[in-house]
Amino acid sequence: MKRLQGRRALITGAARGIGLAFARAYLAEGAQVTIADIDLTRARAAAQDLGPGCHAVDMDVTRQDSIEAGVAAAVERMGRIDILINNAALFTAAPLTEITRADYDRVFAVNVAGTLFTMQAVARHMVARGQGGKIINMASQAGRRGEALVAVYCATKAAVISLTQSAGLNLIDHRINVNAIAPGVVDGEHWDGVDAFFARYEGKAPGQKKREVGAAVPYGRMGTAEDLTGMAIFLASSEADYIVAQTYNVDGGNWMS
Ligand SMILES: NC(=O)c1ccc[n+]([C@@H]2O[C@H](COP(=O)([O-])OP(=O)(O)OC[C@H]3O[C@@H](n4cnc5c(N)ncnc54)[C@H](O)[C@@H]3O)[C@@H](O)[C@H]2O)c1
Repeated sequence: MKRLQGRRALITGAARGIGLAFARAYLAEGAQVTIADIDLTRARAAAQDLGPGCHAVDMDVTRQDSIEAGVAAAVERMGRIDILINNAALFTAAPLTEITRADYDRVFAVNVAGTLFTMQAVARHMVARGQGGKIINMASQAGRRGEALVAVYCATKAAVISLTQSAGLNLIDHRINVNAIAPGVVDGEHWDGVDAFFARYEGKAPGQKKREVGAAVPYGRMGTAEDLTGMAIFLASSEADYIVAQTYNVDGGNWMS
């Protein structure tokens, strides 16, 4: 029996990486999926590759009009939204003395405001339908503690954990479960960018930071996007009905809470 049979999911930032793996896993579990991404070309190619039941919509989570148009397009394609994964995010790193207001605004706009207002738009749809729903926010181990060169990104992910708690407590009245996943270090294009930041600021050779963080994971390697899909399926399923406002670490043992 497929665990998400007939469910309709909207996943932001799913043109690549972890969101794309979630889309693939949800389709395999019987869900329909709409990939919402600022990179529409790549989102369309991904949706075509994933086959029937997968759609792509244009969405920039930093713009209210784009969020509303993207949610409306997803509802039009699928009929409704039962599950939202707020996955779109940007990474940045710099020593504190070099952080710019422009970079702070850019990253907070996607990771925090984007998460909040996409959650709000989909919650309004779910509340109006009166059938409940599941919302999963992508936090990070970076939201559990600060890191010397990563003040802005860490603060955004701490905010995602906090938003998950407040939204979770508010929306459970409507039988909408809001929870979050906190990955550790997951290999892919995102971490290629992280590696490049550390090469710049710590003088490391390309690939060196990845090797170091992978070796430091208690499990013994970096995560893969597929390592996260089990939690994403579980939190979207009815088995998670009694789970409210929580953030789950899926990180090979990096963080305990
Ligand atoms: N990769 C990791 O090690 C790791 C660790 C912890 C948490 N996370 C979190 O998991 C999630 C997915 O990470 P990933 O590694 O797949 O990232 P990624 O950078 O590979 O993918 C991010 C996606 O978001 C899209 N996006 C960016 N700005 C957008 C916007 N304004 N509107 C809509 N879409 C936008 C991008 O086009 C891209 O497709 C993120 O929230 C990230 O912070 C990742």
